[in-house]
Amino acid sequence: MTLNNYFVTGGAGFIGSNFIRYLLNRYQDIRIINFDKLTYAGNLNNLSDIEKDPRYIFFRGDICDKKNIENAFDQFHMDYIINFAAESHVDRSILNPNIFFTSNVLGVLNLLEVSLKQGVKKYLQISTDEVYGSLGKTGAFTETTSLDPRSPYSASKASADLLTQAYFHTFNLPINITRSSNNYGPYQFPEKLIPLTILNCLSGKKIPIYGDGLNIRDWIHVDDHCAAIDLVLHKGIPGEIYNVGANNERSNIEIVKLIIQIITDLHQDLKVSDDLISYVKDRKGHDQRYAINSNKIQKELHWKPSISFESGMINTIRWYLLHPDWLNSIITKDYFLYYQNLYGNSFQL
Ligand SMILES: NC(=O)c1ccc[n+]([C@@H]2O[C@H](COP(=O)([O-])OP(=O)(O)OC[C@H]3O[C@@H](n4cnc5c(N)ncnc54)[C@H](O)[C@@H]3O)[C@@H](O)[C@H]2O)c1
Repeated sequence: MTLNNYFVTGGAGFIGSNFIRYLLNRYQDIRIINFDKLTYAGNLNNLSDIEKDPRYIFFRGDICDKKNIENAFDQFHMDYIINFAAESHVDRSILNPNIFFTSNVLGVLNLLEVSLKQGVKKYLQISTDEVYGSLGKTGAFTETTSLDPRSPYSASKASADLLTQAYFHTFNLPINITRSSNNYGPYQFPEKLIPLTILNCLSGKKIPIYGDGLNIRDWIHVDDHCAAIDLVLHKGIPGEIYNVGANNERSNIEIVKLIIQIITDLHQDLKVSDDLISYVKDRKGHDQRYAINSNKIQKELHWKPSISFESGMINTIRWYLLHPDWLNSIITKDYFLYYQNLYGNSFQL
């Protein structure tokens, strides 16, 4: 039996930890090396249920340090590299763009270099629909839409995509890039809209909404995204980019009102209502609308999303309600300071 080694970077974060669990459930003859720096967003509690699985190994390391990566590569021959490691929050990229370019671009350069040296079967760069910029009222991004990133975060991700493509064209490195829409599901750090809203409902705090709340995002359940990544990794044609989305466009205010409604239905003694909503000064350069066309992956690789938005949201909210310890482990002094810095001192915590 041949054992395939999967080098998953950023596996202690939201999507990476869900992906590791997805792989372990699906494959037996596998070894997963989770390589993560454990920034504020990396949390080994995300993987506490599988940490003793003999197919899983954790390495603390930084993709910006090539020696760190090579140490892991000296121990195993890596077959697949799946790069989730990144600074991932737009607001933080506005406050501090430097770290975004260090991790999201220079880190990717290191990974591409070691992939080439090792002769991996596939290097998969996990990217985002945000590289395409912002849409008006109609239309959707396809893989041929030109790149037009607007935030330091999306600019760093677009740069990494271009670098990844360059390694395919110049060195024949077998790469793929996936660009997915906004993910939701368990284990997401509560700075992003959905877990932040759930957390604030549970603790009776104001829910900040940028601007008029009408910015639109296209939502996909993280498990549907993981299935698409698995498919692209094993079946994607080298050099190709695949958009991943589930046709679920919602405005931010719709999402927040839906969460309040679901929590009210699930937990009637929690007195939550729309009164918690607090409109705050808009994010600088806030993209108006994202919508993703994923016909290519549907047609060529026969992927399709399987989780309806309604049931996915109910299960996600139920998960957060059932895991208060997980939420509490994240809510540190640093978290509150950051939150206050972003939304202003007058914002009720
Ligand atoms: N969350 C979304 O909706 C979404 C949508 C599309 C694409 N993506 C992309 O998917 C990837 C994962 O996103 P996420 O939401 O899980 O992010 P996350 O912030 O939850 O996790 C990122 C992980 O990367 C690790 N990390 C950061 N810098 C590192 C470094 N220099 N070296 C090693 N590890 C490092 C962190 O410790 C953390 O565990 C990112 O590349 C992001 O751009 C996210």
